[in-house]
Amino acid sequence: MTTATGSRLGDLFLGAQLKVGRPLLKAAMKGDPYIDILLGVQDPRPQYAIIREGGPLYRSKGNALVVTSHTLGTEILRDRRLNICHTNGRAPGMQLMERIGWDGSILNLDPPDHTRIRRLAQPAFTPRKIAEYRVAVERICHELLDKAEKQGEFDLIRDYAGPLPIAVIGDMLGVPESEHERFYRHGRVIGSVIDGVKSLSMARDFRRAHSEYLKLFAELIELRRAEPADDLVSVLADAHGEGKVTEHELLALCAVLAVTGFETTTNLIGNGTLALLENPDQWQLFRDDPDLGPKVVEETMRYDSPALQATRIPHEEIELAGQRVKVDEALVVLVGAANHDPEVFRDPDRFDILREGEPDHLSFSGGIHYCIGAPLARMEGDVALRVLAERLPKLRFNGPRRRRSSPVISGLESFPLAVS
Ligand code: HEM
Repeated sequence: MTTATGSRLGDLFLGAQLKVGRPLLKAAMKGDPYIDILLGVQDPRPQYAIIREGGPLYRSKGNALVVTSHTLGTEILRDRRLNICHTNGRAPGMQLMERIGWDGSILNLDPPDHTRIRRLAQPAFTPRKIAEYRVAVERICHELLDKAEKQGEFDLIRDYAGPLPIAVIGDMLGVPESEHERFYRHGRVIGSVIDGVKSLSMARDFRRAHSEYLKLFAELIELRRAEPADDLVSVLADAHGEGKVTEHELLALCAVLAVTGFETTTNLIGNGTLALLENPDQWQLFRDDPDLGPKVVEETMRYDSPALQATRIPHEEIELAGQRVKVDEALVVLVGAANHDPEVFRDPDRFDILREGEPDHLSFSGGIHYCIGAPLARMEGDVALRVLAERLPKLRFNGPRRRRSSPVISGLESFPLAVS
């Protein structure tokens, strides 16, 4: 694993890659809608439309096969012949990330390692555990809104949707109260890497935070070895003692939960609130019946998915949608596009919390990598949006919002609101 500061030569090399990469890519692949998405657009819908017109498997200049069909996307994510890693054992786009000390843990593993690590994390997501977390989530939501209400205005991302998932995962892992500040500080930097590394200073910050975060968990594991508790770190420490997981795998799993569970859940709450306020009839429906919370969550996930892509790799030549797909060719499912596929969703660009009888969205992916945190995210989204509707029915926009332009996640960076 890379050190916190890394070598100066390594930093220079990484800096050059980051600086040169984007302009080169831009010049070489101009006009390709998928490359435009990768380079960052505010609203990818025009690109989705061009790719959709190009047929079920759109071959981009970057040599990826891009999918917008919900039916084909579902098939690909469930296809057991497909993998996360290339035949060389590397997941796509990981070269740069590995240089800054990040291997992606479970996200970048294929069976049998994937099966083994996933099994270890599973006890943190049982229905009993989710019911326990729900009590804490309700309490945290009310505490955060107490402050917002007192001030009369707040930023939904900074003051509500951002801190909530961090507190919940801290709880799940068993981070003691005395270490919360350390966990928040480093976890937030690690979580931001979901969006990719965009500058040398970001790479340095990540490397430092990652190293500090791993140190914190190494200490916590020692503590739980001596005094086990009802948390995920105790389960992992136990599994390590039985030789089921290496120290590196165990620490990497603790770190991946920050990357997978923070930004995504924050954006679910942010995107849901935005869609509700932009569609006053739906906001009214929800305020009248907050038990619609789970339906609001599902429609938000479909309408404005926090996660936008999932990639799979064949290790043998296969046929898909009548085309040959070669070994190691990346199949990219554009989840955001598949969720608006007019073949399966009625009036797909309409936000409608009463939708019935349509297939599930693909925002939690599918097959063996189906999001393990889905029950937690669904519960957090339900509680956070419900508490908002019950306590702040007069919520309104309060100034300009800033959207992220990212190929992999959809969400807001800032979202100012007023409570009355
Ligand atoms: C709205 C919130 C969330 C969204 C949109 C989301 C989305 C996803 C997606 C799309 C994948 C699969 C990637 C692929 O197929 O290659 C995934 C996997 C995963 N997610 Fe989530 N996620 C969310 C919340 C969470 C939470 C709260 C946690 C944990 C605390 C979590 C933990 C994970 C883990 C560990 C994986 C890897 C599973 C595997 O590879 O077997 N996620 N998530």
